[in-house]
Amino acid sequence: MMRKGKMESVASSSIIKRRSIQAIAVFSVFYIFVLYNMPFNFIYDDIAASQSFPSSSFPARKLVGDVITRTLPLEEQVDFAISAPARPRTLHAKVPVASAPASSSTPSSSSNRRALQVSGLVFQYTNATGPTSELDKVVRNAWETGIKVFTELKFGKFDEDENDRNQTMEKCPHSMVMSELEFIRNGSVLELPCGLTLGSHITLMAKPNKAHPEITPKIAIPKEGNQATIVSQFMIELQGLKTVDGEDPPRILHFNPRLKGDWSGKPMIELNTCYRMQWGIAHRCDGWKSRADEETVDGLVKCEKWIRDDDDHSEESKTKWWLNRIISGKKMVQIEWPYPFVEEKIFVLTLSAGLEGYHVNVDGRHIASFPYRTGFVLEDATGLSVSGDIQVQSVFSGSLPTTHPTFSPLKHLEISSQWQAPPLPPDGAVELFIGILSAGNHFAERMAVRKSWMQSIAKSPNMVARFFVAMHGRKKVNVDLKREAEFFGDIIIVPFMDSYDLVVLKTVAICEYGARVLSAKHIMKCDDDTFVKIDSVMMEVKKVAIGNSLYLGNINFHHKPLRNGKWSVTYEEWPEEDYPSYANGPGYVISSDIAHFIISDFEKHTLRLFKMEDVSMGMWIEQFNNTRPVQYIHDLRFCQFGCFDGYFTAHYQSPRQMMCMWDKLKQGKTECCNF
Ligand SMILES: *[C@@H]1O[C@H](CO)[C@@H](O)[C@H](O)[C@H]1NC(C)=O
Ligand SMILES: *[C@@H]1O[C@H](CO)[C@@H](O)[C@H](O)[C@H]1NC(C)=O
Ligand SMILES: *[C@@H]1O[C@H](CO)[C@@H](O)[C@H](O)[C@H]1NC(C)=O
Ligand SMILES: *[C@@H]1O[C@H](CO)[C@@H](O)[C@H](O)[C@H]1NC(C)=O
Repeated sequence: MMRKGKMESVASSSIIKRRSIQAIAVFSVFYIFVLYNMPFNFIYDDIAASQSFPSSSFPARKLVGDVITRTLPLEEQVDFAISAPARPRTLHAKVPVASAPASSSTPSSSSNRRALQVSGLVFQYTNATGPTSELDKVVRNAWETGIKVFTELKFGKFDEDENDRNQTMEKCPHSMVMSELEFIRNGSVLELPCGLTLGSHITLMAKPNKAHPEITPKIAIPKEGNQATIVSQFMIELQGLKTVDGEDPPRILHFNPRLKGDWSGKPMIELNTCYRMQWGIAHRCDGWKSRADEETVDGLVKCEKWIRDDDDHSEESKTKWWLNRIISGKKMVQIEWPYPFVEEKIFVLTLSAGLEGYHVNVDGRHIASFPYRTGFVLEDATGLSVSGDIQVQSVFSGSLPTTHPTFSPLKHLEISSQWQAPPLPPDGAVELFIGILSAGNHFAERMAVRKSWMQSIAKSPNMVARFFVAMHGRKKVNVDLKREAEFFGDIIIVPFMDSYDLVVLKTVAICEYGARVLSAKHIMKCDDDTFVKIDSVMMEVKKVAIGNSLYLGNINFHHKPLRNGKWSVTYEEWPEEDYPSYANGPGYVISSDIAHFIISDFEKHTLRLFKMEDVSMGMWIEQFNNTRPVQYIHDLRFCQFGCFDGYFTAHYQSPRQMMCMWDKLKQGKTECCNF
């Protein structure tokens, strides 16, 4: 393919720039507005629209315009009296202990909020006769603390306006310098409290270590006879230190030179991102310049050429072509440089943030550019971490943003009624209920789900989707979560302290909601990084004869627990050798009879809980299958790892990928956005 005409590409890049500037301008207006109107009170200016919402015919409005026009002071708010979707009384099996349900006890019925919805799941203490497992104790503890935190949240006065306003601005230095010693003391991490902004740059002076033999190489395939491989590699990473808790921070940019090569055998540089332990597609620079038809980043190529040893260039030849040029007077001599990193030789690397991506220069020369990826923006890049075979001598960062609106969900949430959940159908009878596991601080993830595939549910009267979220360790997160829940009306709070080992409780809560609050025929469980193609899932569900018990998903047969490593499962946790057949957690469907069985066993304290919710489900269904045959339907299109075209569900999708997939889906294309 030919490269675009120069004029054309210049024109389009200037359009991009203009757009970006417009976007920045619009954002600034929005930002200033937000600053002076904290805290947002979920106010509407448009009474007519509000009265008609949440019908699906609600006109789509642009976020920015919407927010800017919404300037009525609180006192003038009209009481829209839109109460939360009340639970259908007939189906209401019990009143949960800690959770005065929905409609009864909301203090602020005068604002346009919806009532906080709490899971009806009740955890009761047994004075157990049998032995209680470690997990049982953890559950009890999490539940006790969670109820306390939740009660405080519900009746407490955290959302003090003053407090919030002060918290919205964080002051940060314009530039930072760190010496070798300071850098080492700080765990080889440079914290950038306000993240980066357009034009920010970080310069690192460092020296790669001498290559060393590595017996268990991570990057090189061992040679014959298990010989040690000679390795010298290091990693420079921009990480999102503040975006997640209790998980590895996302690697917004991973820059990994391998001086001795890897399987390619040649020195190379790998660039990538990693979101929720899922690596993106690696971008490898191996000494060949990017193809002419490949996209550029701010006009720069993704990979520059360097001299490969198979080119047979040397200092000598460099002199030769220099002389050649002088003698012949030729202008078009290509300058070639060697691989930028040499063992034990100091280099100066500068990483800068452009309009379209990150640029890496070494010793004054452009080496590689990496287009922005995933759902992260520049201000999320709050740390520079360096690791591997390298000695850092100093780090300097400059042109940094000096203020930051903290990590407020405001940044992620679009407070617009078009994303609010429609009311539940009056009798609660739906074909499919989708419970989405989420964590308190996953504001961006939830917003992306709302704006993408959940839209296809909002328009369908026989489907309902809700997020299931537990209490977070940070108070601020809970306060923000409460507001989010009260506005969008699509969050069910399960009042226990969240922890990785207890997500299984949310799965039980999903069953409870689907089977009791609603009377859904089928219940689907997914995660907030799952993209669901709902019509395909429904089609699969409908293939099953009415009345049959169903377990549909990407089913693992004869899997064994991992007994060592980070994700290991002890014999105490899982004594059996094999797992039951179970569908992968990111997306599966069960019939409601199974959900009823699970809830009733949970209430009788006979439900065995295991920390992996999907294995637990497999275990419960195996048990159910003993009395009533269950139709197990295995389909790989419920993707467990990432996405492939033609998916039913895709996993590990970042907010940006979700929006991209939704755009494609609206054009009728079941395609991934694997960037
Ligand atoms: C259960 O045990 C607790 C103390 O561990 C005790 O206070 C409570 O009365 C017991 N409840 C029953 C129903 O036996
Ligand atoms: C907020 O900041 C103002 C000054 O900037 C200060 O007077 C006030 O006490 C602060 N309020 C809180 C709750 O921190
Ligand atoms: C280094 O660490 C200290 C304490 O851990 C912290 O106060 C300081 O801000 C850090 N410096 C930088 C530049 O990240
Ligand atoms: C379900 O039960 C039937 C017998 O009723 C059995 O043949 C089948 O293997 C069971 N399925 C699983 C996955 O355990």
